[in-house]
Amino acid sequence: MATLLEMRGITKTFPGVRALDNVNLDVEAGEIHAVVGENGAGKSTLMKVLSGVYPHGSYDGEIRFDGAPVAFRGITDSEACGIIIIHQELALVPLLSIAENLFLGNEAATRGVISWPETFSRTERLLRKVGLSEPPTTRVEKLGVGKQQLVEIAKALAKDVRLLILDEPTAALQETDSAKLLDLLLELKAQGITSILISHKLSEVSRVADRITVIRDGATVSTLNARTETISEARIIRDMVGRDMAHRYPERTPQIGEVLFDVRDWTVWHPEQADRRMIRGASFHVRRGEIVGIAGLMGAGRTELAMSLFGRNYGRNHTGEVLLNGAPIDTSTTARAIAAGLAYVTEDRKALGLILDESVARNVTLANLAGVSRRGV
Ligand SMILES: Nc1ncnc2c1ncn2[C@@H]1O[C@H](COP(=O)(O)OP(=O)(O)OP(=O)(O)O)[C@@H](O)[C@H]1O
Ligand SMILES: [Mg+2]
Repeated sequence: MATLLEMRGITKTFPGVRALDNVNLDVEAGEIHAVVGENGAGKSTLMKVLSGVYPHGSYDGEIRFDGAPVAFRGITDSEACGIIIIHQELALVPLLSIAENLFLGNEAATRGVISWPETFSRTERLLRKVGLSEPPTTRVEKLGVGKQQLVEIAKALAKDVRLLILDEPTAALQETDSAKLLDLLLELKAQGITSILISHKLSEVSRVADRITVIRDGATVSTLNARTETISEARIIRDMVGRDMAHRYPERTPQIGEVLFDVRDWTVWHPEQADRRMIRGASFHVRRGEIVGIAGLMGAGRTELAMSLFGRNYGRNHTGEVLLNGAPIDTSTTARAIAAGLAYVTEDRKALGLILDESVARNVTLANLAGVSRRGV
């Protein structure tokens, strides 16, 4: 097979961090090439170098596409070559329609006037290719993340994609949506589209990848060929972490003690719809040293339960009892819940968990200012 992309000796540094150190990556025309590695290994940085997000001159090394050296100054340059990157955080405009999103910046227009009939018919064709049957005028905010991801791919197809880069496309998807997306990737491959798939989910990688490049600490560790040999997950993990993992889930012998946290008959009503009871008399307890899982389908109320217990951050008209070490505690506000010794790590870390404009130090100490100050300073 012909080589479509060659990245040679790519080195990229940020102040104080060498994110990429002499990385090599070869992608053959027509393959699905997975790039895997632990958090912070350098996968996204490598793709940003490739797509011109980090322009030529801001890194060392050479990129060849279709046999010729390239020097992208920005993503417009890489897109002109047919290299399209879909970032993990979706970049659609929620209030615009599917059609408007697909052709944003790439409008079907003559002399500055958009041709809507053409836009809509092209949108319908593209949506069919990715298996969506929504009308082109549907607003993107009405679609779930799974379908939005498919719209992102339709948008890539609108631009004559030759190399499609997906940075953790399934991280936020449920299993059925993930499966659909992987099927689509295989279908696009049958149509000759090459792709690079970044994923932490090794079962998905094993399912679709032709070859797998493992990156560790900013350096290429190996490229494994899944077409010529069966690559076990254990093998990939060994390259990712740099040693044999005898126990993927190490044995633990927890010391389970007495009941520490006790929730009795906890009932919570919907914040806006006064007649909807969201949590109905939930009771459970956690013993000292225990890890207790809360399982349920999407929408079952797991997050609502946790958030309502932690400072009543969800719902209204809370009733029931919360006890710590056998004594009732006041968790009626976030500050009181923290004072009582509870901590909450949210599922939406970017919106609810962190103040992104602030430093790591400020974020880490924010919930415990008393612990880092003396007499209020
Ligand atoms: N803009 C930046 N400024 C400074 N350091 C950065 C920047 N972007 C990435 N890094 C650092 O470069 C290294 C590689 O990060 P990168 O995001 O490429 O990792 P990754 O493999 O994509 O990780 P993940 O699986 O968590 O997405 C990390 O140490 C990261 O902290
Ligand atoms: Mg990343």
